[in-house]
Amino acid sequence: MTALVSIQVPVPTASQGYVVRVGLGVAEEIVTHLRRAAPALQRVAVVSDTNVFALHGSGVVQRLHDAGLETVVHTIAPGEASKSPAVLLACLQAWAAAGLARSDAAVALGGGVVGDLAGLAAHLYMRGIPIVQCPTSLLAQVDASVGGKVAIDHDGAKNLLGAFHFPAAVLVDPTWLATLPAEGRIAGAAEMVKHALLFSREHLDAIARCAPRWASAAPAELAELVASSIALKAACVAADPFERSPSGRVLLNLGHTVGHAIEAASAYTVGHGDAVALGLVAAARLSVRRGLAPARLADELGALLRTIGLPTELDPWLAEPQLARVRAALGHDKKRAGDMITYIALADVAVPQTVRLGADAVLEAIAPR
Ligand SMILES: NC(=O)c1ccc[n+]([C@@H]2O[C@H](COP(=O)([O-])OP(=O)(O)OC[C@H]3O[C@@H](n4cnc5c(N)ncnc54)[C@H](O)[C@@H]3O)[C@@H](O)[C@H]2O)c1
Ligand SMILES: [Zn+2]
Repeated sequence: MTALVSIQVPVPTASQGYVVRVGLGVAEEIVTHLRRAAPALQRVAVVSDTNVFALHGSGVVQRLHDAGLETVVHTIAPGEASKSPAVLLACLQAWAAAGLARSDAAVALGGGVVGDLAGLAAHLYMRGIPIVQCPTSLLAQVDASVGGKVAIDHDGAKNLLGAFHFPAAVLVDPTWLATLPAEGRIAGAAEMVKHALLFSREHLDAIARCAPRWASAAPAELAELVASSIALKAACVAADPFERSPSGRVLLNLGHTVGHAIEAASAYTVGHGDAVALGLVAAARLSVRRGLAPARLADELGALLRTIGLPTELDPWLAEPQLARVRAALGHDKKRAGDMITYIALADVAVPQTVRLGADAVLEAIAPR
């Protein structure tokens, strides 16, 4: 009989740190970051959506050509529907047909949809090629591009097929925000308010000062707010890169339990930012009603969201016929373990608290009164 053999295989993970550069004009650094990640680079796969590519694609492509690099441009249709297996495969096939090599690299130029799709493609292609994330929507700048989570949707389930693929670098150029429509600016604010509620009174006050002119603020004015919001998220994901701690990345789900349920209940006609705003209202309401937080927390949040232009009317989603859909979606919450949801509540601004609740207890605590 053979003796039992046990071989421990260590896996080095130290090389996964990356820089997030925030500032007007950082897009100009793209070649430096690509070459650092892929020294033998010859071709760059640029993934974008048709909206963003028409506005900002030629600048990026020109910069790559000026550096003597070939480009393989792949554009997708704008919108969440592009986070699908078919669109992912089409992107991978285009890369293979163009002869993209293991030593080449990718660039994601666009909102969170492009970042998630291109990031997953980069993770899969030849077991992984480096990617530089160039987020162009406010939501992608402050949230989606940082943290290394990449995914597509499948079978009605959001982000069902995904991975961790840490970027080689993230270039956050607020210049790109100049072409973002007002709704996109407003939607991105929801995640910034979330970061502030979780981690920083100072950031919440800075957002409040800009709130009355949010949709028309100049990119330069948003730049500083974007940088502080990213710094808060980055500190959280750095402490818990793979979401294993009960008090780490999981906190970033603040507003997302009920938010995702409303998104699903609306068949994704309510955008992510609006849904998160409603989810934050729910989190504040639950925190106050369960005696965790003072009532002023919910009042302050409601006033801030309204000033920015985000929705706060939660009650219509908690009355039939919507309620049944919200309840069903909550039941499918993928963060559930057993029958309980890990719900992120707040004791105050910058004092998050995790509570374990059943879906019915969540709905009862936020029910209209
Ligand atoms: N990976 C993560 O950690 C993470 C975090 C949050 C959200 N997300 C994902 O991000 C996606 C939402 O991101 P989004 O809101 O950026 O959506 P999106 O990528 O669909 O962009 C929204 C719209 O804005 C347009 N757009 C983007 N930048 C523009 C610009 N500079 N000028 C003009 N138009 C521009 C796009 O073409 C699109 O029509 C969701 O799929 C969500 O799951 C991922
Ligand atoms: Zn979100």
